[in-house]
Formats: sequence, structure tokens, C-alpha cells
Amino acid sequence: MRTQVAIVGAGPAGMFLAHLLHAAGLDCVVLERRDRAFVEGRVRAGVLEPITVDLMRELGLAEGLERGGLAHDGVNIATGGELLRIDLASLVGVGLTVYGQQEVMRDLFDGAVARGIHIVWEADDVVLEGLDGAEPFVTWRHGQTGHRLDCDFVAGCDGFHGVSRSSIPAQDLRTYERVYPFGWLGILADVPPCNDELVYANHERGFALASMRSETRSRYYVQVALDEQVDDWPDERFWDELCLRLGPQTAAKLTRGPSFEKSIAPLRSFVAEPMRWGRLFLAGDAAHIVPPTGAKGMNLAVSDVIMLADGLIEHYRANKDHGLETYSKRALARVWKAERFSWWLTSITHRFPDADPFSQQMQLAELDYLRSSEAAQRSFAENYVGLPMARPGRRAKASAAAPEGAVRGTSQSIGKKLERTCAGAAPGEGKAT
Ligand code: APR
Ligand code: PHB
Repeated sequence: MRTQVAIVGAGPAGMFLAHLLHAAGLDCVVLERRDRAFVEGRVRAGVLEPITVDLMRELGLAEGLERGGLAHDGVNIATGGELLRIDLASLVGVGLTVYGQQEVMRDLFDGAVARGIHIVWEADDVVLEGLDGAEPFVTWRHGQTGHRLDCDFVAGCDGFHGVSRSSIPAQDLRTYERVYPFGWLGILADVPPCNDELVYANHERGFALASMRSETRSRYYVQVALDEQVDDWPDERFWDELCLRLGPQTAAKLTRGPSFEKSIAPLRSFVAEPMRWGRLFLAGDAAHIVPPTGAKGMNLAVSDVIMLADGLIEHYRANKDHGLETYSKRALARVWKAERFSWWLTSITHRFPDADPFSQQMQLAELDYLRSSEAAQRSFAENYVGLPMARPGRRAKASAAAPEGAVRGTSQSIGKKLERTCAGAAPGEGKAT
């Protein structure tokens, strides 16, 4: 079998790339180790930057998003018993869209089936060969049968534990890592969200986050120690702890109910450089991990593959390799800033077991500065909605501050479904203090 681009991994990075290449008339094959139900069923985050929303629209994959996406113009930080609302829309002209990654994956897979994008499911023992030459190829096994795919390029979109990054010789790869001394215990429950926007809480007992999937489905998290088990957290204990940490104003609007998903995830920052080796290009979690605090994981995978697709399209259409040659540098420039924001937001909202009194005062000072300074809130907002991407040859769309050729998403108009979902919430409640 032969194709132009072999894509390893059918997560967000691999599937967005497959759609981008297919839309440009390029040929690709996606190789995925698991089956569709497994990939689609994985519970992940659900906050989309305008760049991601715009891409789904451009690709003609936004029907579900227009129907079920929730437009959020602001985000809240609960600290010291008060809610600080950051008005994203008025500070930077765009907000975010809440739409679960499971729904994004469903839309990507349905679209792939409709368009005839070739995905090989349950591809075992994927091996990448000849990456440093002109004729790379990929082999795998399906059941007892071995297969081979010849290609021009390999896109390593196979996540943190995939085979792509480890196919690069160790001496050619530099990695940076921080593992945090806590995890997030997350639940899903079919109860209405306690607030119409997300609430990130910094509490002396630890971090908490109130998020949602729809008007009737809530997603909540609490920071837990790394040695805690899901079984230590029956629902009632979770709800009690969540209410304490969110504070009385938000807790008063919280509806409890049985959870149907409960899991603990560790938090990690990780970057591998460069994101290209020979004919292999890494994208998404294969090259970098962020702690979930900034809601950046899937959005970073999207900006990577937009830049990678630009380079591949330029290679085939214009016979030029500037985009491919600068891919790693351009992608990493955005990745490192998202790493910085995610690390910073994690460090000002969580309780660190080894924090001394000075670090705790620094945390309070950061939060107080954010509360009191519009400049600080604007900086928060531009990072939270996603920084522009370097796309040579493209004009900036919306951002006044974006450098030439940098493109920020413009999306704003997903139906506002959660104007007033929370029973008993007074107008303006949960807004700026
Ligand atoms: N061969 C084939 N496929 C593989 C292999 C392998 N050796 N190893 C992993 N995969 C597949 C996984 O099964 C998974 O479906 O690669 C896919 C990688 O998907 P993600 O882990 O979701 O990574 P990515 O697409 O970069 O997603 C970026 O979305 O899912 C979130 O947490 C993720 O926030 C991150 C973002
Ligand atoms: C989620 O809804 O799962 C979510 C939202 C915001 C985050 C992380 C996760 O920062």
C-alpha cells in the first residue's frame, strides 16, 4: 500500500490532520492501535479555543458544535471567598466554546466515514522505518497478518505513549518535564451545571473546577494527593469536598446526583524538541503534554496540525519546503507559551504539599494582582482563549496585537445555551466582584 502521508494515531491530532490533508486533495492513511468505540469513549476535556471552532467550521464538521456547543464569554476564579470574573469577550474580543472532546471525536469520525478517509483500526505493533531517508514506510500487524505502508512523510500523532517519539534517536531529542505532586479526581454527572461559566477555585483544602458538557451534564474536579484511589471517594464525599472548595456562593447553586464516570489523572508538563526528525513530524501529545488547568491539550494539537498541514500542502502544491522546515520552530514557539500559561495557572490555583509560607504569599499576590489589574486580566484572557499561530503567508484575522502572519480564531457565534440554567441564580451572580 502507498500513500503520501502516513498518520499514526486517530486522536484529535491525527484526525484533524487527516481532514485538513483530505480537504486539500492529499492522500493519507491513519493507523490507530485501538478501535473506534475506545477512542470515542475516552473522557477528556471539553473547552475549545476559537482556533479549534473555526477549524471545525472550515472543515464542514461543525453541525454538532453549532447545535450543542456552549459559548462562554467569561471565566471565574474563586479565591478568598470571592468570585473573580474575567470577561474574555470584552478584554480580547473572543470567548471559548464548551463542547466535549468525545463529541469532537464523534464528529471527526463520522466526517471521515462520509468522506472516505482511510483509517486502519486495531493496528498492532506499528513500526516506523526509513525516517532519515527519502522512502519511509510503516509496518503493523492486524491479527496474524503483517502490513506495510510506503509514504513520503510520517505524522506522529500517537500521543504521549506512542511509538513515534521513541523512533527518534535519543541523542537527537531533548526533553523537558515537570511532574506535579498531585492529581485531579474528575466526575461526570447528569445534573445541571452550578454556574453558567467555568469556576476555577483556589481553596486552602486544594484546587477545584466546575465545568460542564451541556445544560444537563456537569464535569467537576478536585485536586487529590497522588496516592489517593477512586474508591476513597464515594459520591457524597466528592460533593461535600467540591462544595467546600468552590465556596458558598457557587455551592448554593450546585445540584448533586450520582456520578457515572470517576477517575484520577496525574498532572504533567512535558516538551520534546525538535518536533521533526527526517521525514517524521510529531504533533499533539506525542511531542508535548500540559497540565489540564489551562484547557490547552486538544487545542495545542489542533494548532500543531494546522501548521503541519500548511507545510505539507506547500510541499505538494508549490514544491517548496519552507513550511516543513520551520514547522518545529513555529509549533514549539506556541507550545512553550501554552506550557507557560498552563504551568502558571496550575501554580497559582493548587496547593503544593511542599509550599513554604513565602510561596503561599506569592500565590496570594498573583491572585490579588489578577483581581486588581485589567492589564493582568487581559494577559490572562489572551492566553486562555489561545495565542495566535505563526502561519507564513496568511493575514491575521482578528487580533490587533498579533504579529504579521499570525492568525487568531474569530469564532464567536455558537448558540448561548446557558443564559440562566442555575435555579435560584440572581442576575449578575457569579460575575465580577
Ligand atoms: N500505534 C497506533 N496508534 C497509537 C499508538 C501506536 N503505537 N500509540 C498510541 N496510539 C493512538 C492512541 O490509541 C490514541 O488514539 O494514538 C492516539 C493519540 O491520541 P491522543 O492521546 O488523544 O493524542 P492527541 O491526538 O495528540 O491529542 C491531544 O487531546 O486526547 C487529548 O489528552 C489529549 O489533550 C490531548 C489532546
Ligand atoms: C473540562 O471540562 O473537562 C475541563 C475544563 C477546563 C479545564 C480542564 C478540563 O481547564
